[in-house]
Amino acid sequence: MKNTIIIIFIFNLVFIISAIAQQTKTITIGSETKVLKPYSTYAVTTDETARCLNCHSIRMPKLVETWEKSAHAKNGVGCYECHKAEKGDQTAKQGHFSFNVQLVVSPARCGSCHQEQYQEFAVSAHAYTFDRIKYLPFRKDNPDLFETSCVTCHGTVINMKKGKSADNSWPNNGIGRVNPDGSRGNCASCHGYHTDSLSVARDTSTCGKCHNTDFSPALQTWNMSAHGTAYNKAISSADLTKKHLNFTEDALMKPNCQACHIQSANDETKSTHNVSSRISWKLSDLKAIHTDDWGAKRLEMQKTCRNCHASTQINQYYRKLDAAVNVTNHILDKKISSDTSFLEKLELNNSLLSIRIGFAMLGTVDPLKVEMLSH
Ligand code: HEC
Ligand code: HEC
Ligand code: HEC
Ligand code: HEC
Ligand code: HEC
Ligand code: HEC
Ligand code: HEC
Ligand code: HEC
Repeated sequence: MKNTIIIIFIFNLVFIISAIAQQTKTITIGSETKVLKPYSTYAVTTDETARCLNCHSIRMPKLVETWEKSAHAKNGVGCYECHKAEKGDQTAKQGHFSFNVQLVVSPARCGSCHQEQYQEFAVSAHAYTFDRIKYLPFRKDNPDLFETSCVTCHGTVINMKKGKSADNSWPNNGIGRVNPDGSRGNCASCHGYHTDSLSVARDTSTCGKCHNTDFSPALQTWNMSAHGTAYNKAISSADLTKKHLNFTEDALMKPNCQACHIQSANDETKSTHNVSSRISWKLSDLKAIHTDDWGAKRLEMQKTCRNCHASTQINQYYRKLDAAVNVTNHILDKKISSDTSFLEKLELNNSLLSIRIGFAMLGTVDPLKVEMLSH
C-alpha cells in the first residue's frame, strides 16, 4: 500500500515536471521571450501563430503541412514570426483579422534570427544581382517583358501596396531582389519557402536554376567535369538533411558547387553565405579583373582543394585559369571600340563569360568558339 502511494506520487511528479518542461518551451526574438504551445506531434507555436493556423490549416492545408515538417515548426517559428508587419507599414496588409501581415519575407526578417548568414549574404554579389540589369533600356521600354525574363534570376524592385503587388514585380524569386523593407536579396532562392530546407540548398540543381545558361554554364560544365561526374556517382548514399555536413566525410568525397563556394573546408574553417569570398577574378565583368584582396580569397578557396589535391595540381589549375582569363581579355581588347553599341557589348560579355566559366569549372571549352571570337 505504502509502496503504491510512493509509486503514484513519483509517477505524478514526473508527469507534472514533464508537463511544466513542455509548457515552458520558449522562443526569444530580440528582447522578447514567448512561451510555445504544442500544435501537433512535431510542431510548437506562439499564441499568434496558433491563430493563423486556425484558418490557414483549412484554407491552405498543404502549405501548413509543409511548414509542419520543417525545423522551424519544431522550434516555434511560425506564420506570425515570419509574416508579421509593423503597424502602419503601408506596404503590408493592415488588419488581416486583427494582425498586420507582410506577404514578402525579406532576408532582413530571416536575419532577425540568423544574423551571421544574413550579414555574410548581404555583402555577396548575390545580394546585388539586380544592379546588373537596373539600367537596361528594356526595363522602361517593356516593363511586362522585363518582369518575366531577366528578373527571374537577377531579382527586381518589389513594389507592394497594402499587402498586394502594385505592379507585376511579385512573386519574384530572384536572388538580388530589392525588398519593401529596403533589404537586398532573397534567402528563398536557395532554401525554398516553408520547407526552409538544408537539403534543397545543398542540391546542385538549386544553383542550376540560374547557373545553367548559355552565357554562364557552370552547372553544365561541372556536370561534365572530373569533379561532377565523380560526384554524381557518389551522391545517392549521402544524407543532405544532416545539420552539419562534412563533404569529405559524408559519402560525398567529391566537390560540388556548395563544397567549393559555401561549405567549410575542414574543422578549422567556417562555411560562408558570401559566395564572393573565395573568388579571385570577377569573371562576369566585360573585362575580367582581379577582385579586391584576391590573393587571400584564392587561398581561402584552396583550403577546399587541399582536402583532395597536392600543391602542384592546385597551382597548375590557377596558372591555366589565369592564362585563359588573359586570352579572353585580349579578345576583348581586339573586338571593342568606341562605337561598340550597348547590345554588342552585352553579347560580347556573354560569350567571354561562357568561355571563362568553362575553364573555371574544369570543363571543356569549344575551341572553335574561342578561335572564331578571336577573329
Ligand atoms: C480568420 C481567419 C484567418 C486568420 C486568423 C489569418 N488568416 Fe491569413 N488568410 C485568411 C484568408 C481567408 C486568406 C485569403 C486566402 C486566399 O486569398 O485564397 C488569407 C491570406 C493570407 C496571406 C496571403 C495574402 C495574399 O494576398 O495572398 C498571408 C500571407 C496570410 N494570410 C498570413 C496570415 C498570418 C501570418 C496570420 C496570423 C498572424 C493569418 N494569416 C491569420 C484567413 C486568415
Ligand atoms: C521561415 C519563415 C516563414 C514561415 C514560418 C512561414 N512563411 Fe509563408 N512565406 C515565407 C516566404 C519566404 C515566402 C515567399 C514570399 C516572398 O518573400 O516572396 C512565403 C510565402 C507565403 C505565402 C504566399 C505564397 C503563396 O503560395 O500563396 C503565403 C500565403 C504564406 N507564406 C503563408 C504562410 C502561413 C499560413 C504560414 C504558417 C503555416 C507561413 N506562411 C509560415 C516565409 C515563411
Ligand atoms: C523567429 C526566428 C526565425 C526566423 C524569423 C527564421 N528562422 Fe530559420 N531557424 C530558426 C530556428 C530557431 C531554427 C532551428 C535552429 C537550429 O536547428 O539550429 C532555424 C533553422 C533554419 C534552417 C536550418 C533548417 C534545418 O533543416 O536544420 C534554415 C535553412 C533556416 N532556418 C532558414 C531561414 C530562412 C530562409 C528564414 C527566412 C525566410 C528564416 N530561417 C527565418 C529561427 C528563425
Ligand atoms: C537563368 C537565370 C538568368 C537569367 C534569366 C538572366 N541572367 Fe543575367 N546572369 C545570370 C548569371 C548566373 C550570371 C553570371 C554569374 C557569373 O558567372 O558570375 C549573369 C550575369 C549577367 C551579366 C554580367 C555578365 C554578362 O554576361 O553580361 C549581365 C549584364 C546580365 N546577367 C544581364 C542579364 C539580362 C539583361 C537578362 C535578361 C535579358 C539576364 N541577365 C537574364 C543569370 C541569369
Ligand atoms: C546561394 C544559396 C543560398 C542562399 C541565397 C542562402 N543560403 Fe543558407 N545555406 C545554403 C547552403 C548550401 C547551406 C548549407 C551549408 C552547409 O552544408 O554547411 C545553407 C545553410 C544555412 C543555415 C544552416 C546553418 C549554416 O550556416 O550552415 C541557415 C540558418 C541558413 N542557411 C540561413 C540562410 C539565410 C537567413 C539566408 C538569407 C540571408 C540564406 N541562408 C541564403 C545556401 C544558401
Ligand atoms: C536565383 C538565381 C541564383 C541562384 C539560385 C544561385 N545564384 Fe549564384 N549568381 C546568380 C547571379 C545572377 C550572379 C551574378 C552576380 C554578378 O555577376 O554580379 C551569381 C553569382 C554567383 C557567383 C559569383 C560571385 C561573384 O563574386 O562574382 C558564385 C560563386 C555563385 N553565384 C555561386 C552560386 C552557388 C554555389 C549557388 C547554389 C548554392 C548559387 N550561386 C545559386 C544567381 C543565382
Ligand atoms: C572544385 C571546386 C569548385 C566546384 C565544384 C565549383 N566551383 Fe565554381 N569556381 C571555382 C573556382 C576555383 C572558380 C574561380 C575562382 C576565382 O576567380 O578565383 C569558380 C568560379 C565560379 C563562378 C564565377 C565567378 C565570377 O567571377 O564570375 C561561378 C558563377 C561559379 N563558380 C559557380 C559554380 C556553380 C554553380 C557550381 C556547381 C555547378 C560550381 N561553381 C562548382 C571552384 C569550384
Ligand atoms: C573532395 C575532393 C576534391 C576536392 C575538394 C577538389 N577536387 Fe579536384 N579532383 C577530385 C577528383 C576525385 C578528381 C578526379 C580524379 C580522377 O579523374 O580520377 C579531381 C580532378 C581534378 C583536376 C583534373 C581534372 C581532369 O580533367 O582530369 C583538377 C585540375 C582539379 N581536380 C583541381 C581542383 C581544384 C583547383 C580544387 C579546388 C578549387 C579541387 N580540385 C577540389 C577531387 C577533389
